[in-house]
Order: sequence, then C-alpha cells, then structure tokens
Amino acid sequence: MNGVTTPPQKTPPLAMVIFGASGDLTSRKILPALANLADHGRLSENFQVIGVARTEWSDEDFQKAALVDVPNAGSEWRRLVSNFRYVSGEYAASSTFDQLKGLLGEADSKHGTGGNRLYYLATIPSVFALVADALAKEGCNVPGEGGDFCRLVVEKPYGHDLSTALDLDAAVHRAFDEDQIFRIDHYMGKETVQNVLALRFANAIFEPIWNRRYVENIQITVAESIGVEHRGGFYETAGALRDIVQNHVMQVLALTLMESPTGMDADHIRDEKVKLLRAVDIPTPDEAVDKSVRGQYLAGVVDQQPVVGYRQEDGVDPHSETETFVALRLRVENWRWAGVPIYIRTGKRLPARVTEVALTFQGVPFLAFEGELARQLRPNALILRIQPNEGVSLHFGAKIPGEAFRVQSVAMDFEYNSAFADTGMDGYPRLLHDAMNGDATLFIRTDEVEQAWRIVDPYLQAWSEPGGGLHFYNAGTWGPHIADLLLERSGDAWRVPDLSKS
Ligand code: NDP
Ligand code: BG6
Repeated sequence: MNGVTTPPQKTPPLAMVIFGASGDLTSRKILPALANLADHGRLSENFQVIGVARTEWSDEDFQKAALVDVPNAGSEWRRLVSNFRYVSGEYAASSTFDQLKGLLGEADSKHGTGGNRLYYLATIPSVFALVADALAKEGCNVPGEGGDFCRLVVEKPYGHDLSTALDLDAAVHRAFDEDQIFRIDHYMGKETVQNVLALRFANAIFEPIWNRRYVENIQITVAESIGVEHRGGFYETAGALRDIVQNHVMQVLALTLMESPTGMDADHIRDEKVKLLRAVDIPTPDEAVDKSVRGQYLAGVVDQQPVVGYRQEDGVDPHSETETFVALRLRVENWRWAGVPIYIRTGKRLPARVTEVALTFQGVPFLAFEGELARQLRPNALILRIQPNEGVSLHFGAKIPGEAFRVQSVAMDFEYNSAFADTGMDGYPRLLHDAMNGDATLFIRTDEVEQAWRIVDPYLQAWSEPGGGLHFYNAGTWGPHIADLLLERSGDAWRVPDLSKS
C-alpha cells in the first residue's frame, strides 16, 4: 500500500456566508465538509461563518445546529462554531443585507478574516439571481478592506433549461465577474472522476486505443438504489435529465472523451471539456425521441425491502410525468469519436448504487477459438468505477486451465482503497477547499454550462411534445425494457455492472 502524505494546505483567512443556512444541503453536506477541513487542519484559524436564511434562529441556534450536524467533530470545529453568526431575514429585504454587512465588518475586526469573502448560494435556485444582485447593490461583490478576494459559489441546478440558464448567467454576471464565480458540481470533487484524467494522460498505453478505431461503444451509468427521499418536491421540478445528466454525466463524459489538455490548470482543462461538449451532436426533435428513453419507477423491491412507486412518494403529484430514469444514445462528431455510440443511463431505484464508465473495445479481426471454445469470451472492456469501490478493471480473454484450448474473460483489477492509504479529500471538502484557495479547475465555467444545456435541451423539448412517452419500470430493476432496444438496434447491450463491487 502506498501512502504519500502531503501536509494540509491551509486556506487564507476568510469570512464565509452561507445563503440557505437552515436548509438541507447546509446541514448534510456543507457543515460536515467544513468540520472535516477544520479538524484536518485545512482551515485558517481566522475563519468565520455567517448563516443567512428566513428561519428565526439566534446565533446560538445556528451554532447548535452546526454541532448536531457533525456529531463526531473535533476541537477545532467546536472552537470555530462558537464564533458562528446568523442573520434571520428574507433575501428580498435590504435589512437582511444591512445586517450581513455589519457582521462582515465584525468578522474582519474581531476574527481577522482580512476582507476576504466566500458567498455560498446553498439556497433555492429561484433566488440565486436575487441574492447576487442584492450583494452587488450593497457593494458586497468586492473584497472588504485589505481583502484579496470575493467569490461566489453557486449550487446546482444552474438554470432549468438553456434559456433560463443563460438568463441566470446574465444576472450573476451583472453582479460578479466570471473569475469570481465557482459553479459547483460535486461529481468533479470525486477522486475517481479526477482519476479519469490521470489514467488517460499519465499513461502512454491508453491513448493509441482511445478512439473510434478500437472502441466499439462507451457506456456511462449513474445508477442509484435510493428513491427521491425527502426531496420529492424538488425532484418534481427537475427529473433525471436535469438532476444528473445535464451536470454530473456531462462532466464525466467530457473528461472521458476530451483531448489532452496542454496544462492542468483551470482554463486548459475547461477549454478541452468545452471543445468536446461542442462536438456532441444535437438531435432533431424526432431523433431526440428516437434516441432517448425516459422512465419512472413503480413500486418494487430494492435491497430486499419493498418500496413505493415514484407517484406515491411525499411531495410528488400522483399523476406525475417526471422521469426518474433516462437513457440516451449520443454521438460525438469529431475525428476521434465519429461513429462510436455513446450510451448514457441514469435512474433512481435501480438495483444498486453504481457509477461507472465502460469502454468496450472491438473484437479481434479473426477468432481462431471457435464455438464452444470461446463461448465465455466477451470483448475487451475497460471499466472506470467512479463509485463505490473506486477503481479500474480491464477485462480480457484468458485460457481456462485444462487440456482443451478454451478461453474466457477475466478481469484485472485496480482498487483505490487497497492501493492508497489516504484516499484524500473527496467531494464537498475538496471543492470548498479549492474555492477558498481560488482554484477553479474543478468548477464549471459559463461556457460548459451553456454547452451542457445545449445538449439536453432538445430532449426536454421533444419529451414535452405528444409522443415523448414515459415508460414504467419496477423499482429494483435496470429501468424500462425499451431502454435495451436503444442498444440492440446497433447490436450492443447494456453492460451489467459487477454488483459484487457495489
Ligand atoms: P432547502 O429547501 O432545504 O433549503 C433552502 C434554504 O434557503 C433554507 O435555508 C431557506 O430558508 C433558504 N431560503 C429560501 N428562500 C429564501 C428567501 N427568499 N429568503 C431567505 N432564505 C431563503 O434546499 P436544499 O438545502 O435541499 O438545497 C439548496 C440548494 O442546494 C439547491 O440549489 C439544491 O438544488 C442544491 N442541492 C441540494 C442537495 C441536497 O441534497 N439537499 C444536493 C445537491 C444540490 P428557510 O428554510 O429558513 O426559510
Ligand atoms: C445530486 C442529485 O446532485 O446527486 C441527487 O440532486 C443524487 O438526486 C445525487 O442523489 C447523487 O450523488 P452521489 O454523490 O451520491 O452519486
């Protein structure tokens, strides 16, 4: 086991303002991520959090919540929490921002936050523009006295479709410059998503076969066994295409298929991602219907437990047409990928939580092992397991021991957890740390958001027309049967993920 440990890089002094401080994301992700950074020595001692939301909390109530949300927190988190402040107010009210300005001044004078600001829009998307605008009006879109930076972290979803995303972007840009804006996609914080870059560009052996000459098809699967949990109301406004494909899947797709960047800094990597996304073919409305499947789960059994159907979930319309499953067949029109089908599927209440990218390679030009001898031989495949049991598997043919020359497919496995002692900072801690340090590499640039919406928009439009049907599947299955046809037409089949790894 290798274990290269690097000393923690501390963030600069700063005041962090959380809009949505009483909400679910703050409680489940942001506060635990901050506690993780604090207790690993990665936060500056001069760090202050100011929460802003409508709930009528005192500072002490917010501080209590920050301790309840992180039950096993260490001493540094407890020390920092005792300074947390809270503003109870409506984002549409200027009094909210007056109070906030007072507390930011106090953070600098009392806690040495040095005029540096990180605003986090962890609130409902319909008020993103309102908050950005109010911050600008109050002069809070620039660093405080002596400060070096003032940044805005924006949660997903960034827009509801291409046109609303462009409107939101215009509003946010009226208040903040692009280099101040950090659009979050938590998939980019996953070590194994970043490992796609290492695998492709730190190794010489993959590049020659990473193209249309050798790759038969590519499949990206983001499967979840959970349903919509307590987020039925939100999910009704989103659906699987907006919730997962427009952001997480597009990011994984771009990293898997893009050209090599000439440097590992934010713009070199994002330039290549954008170039790739631009090359994704945009279907006509008829093609969009033909190349997509949308599904919704019925009651079923997941992890041996009976579960209700989507329409019976809390906060969901009993006649809802929202999709909880999507399968797409995409094309990337460039020299590297022309003609290679790219299959995407994501869904809730599937049999397991598995995110993987599978490259299936073309068969050998001539197979000397005929019939029975090669019955168990499948084409070569390279599987990038994003989660769980993060790693990489290479599937190839091997001789079955014995007299007959029979061959079957076997897998060569790399597992992150057994190779590295320290699997590093993952997800929200990593992304928050990067935003505080001003590293935008793992954040989504304005043109990436636009391109990702450009790709999914035709499906949204096609599905809203008569004929853009919804197909049902039982919870605990791999989605509607019709999703198989999307591949069978080209002689392909969905890969069955190895559930022993999930
Ligand atoms: P919640 O509904 O739980 O929280 C919303 C927060 O915003 C609350 O603190 C609420 O305050 C505050 N708020 C809303 N409107 C106003 C207003 N007009 N004035 C003042 N405060 C307001 O949402 P989530 O935490 O679930 O989601 C927040 C963001 O994070 C969303 O963009 C979501 O898409 C994103 N996200 C959430 C995930 C999750 O697992 N929850 C996962 C990935 C992204 P109050 O309740 O006090 O009125
Ligand atoms: C979020 C979606 O962005 O990602 C959720 O809103 C989904 O619906 C979640 O469950 C999946 O994230 P992860 O890290 O568990 O794969």
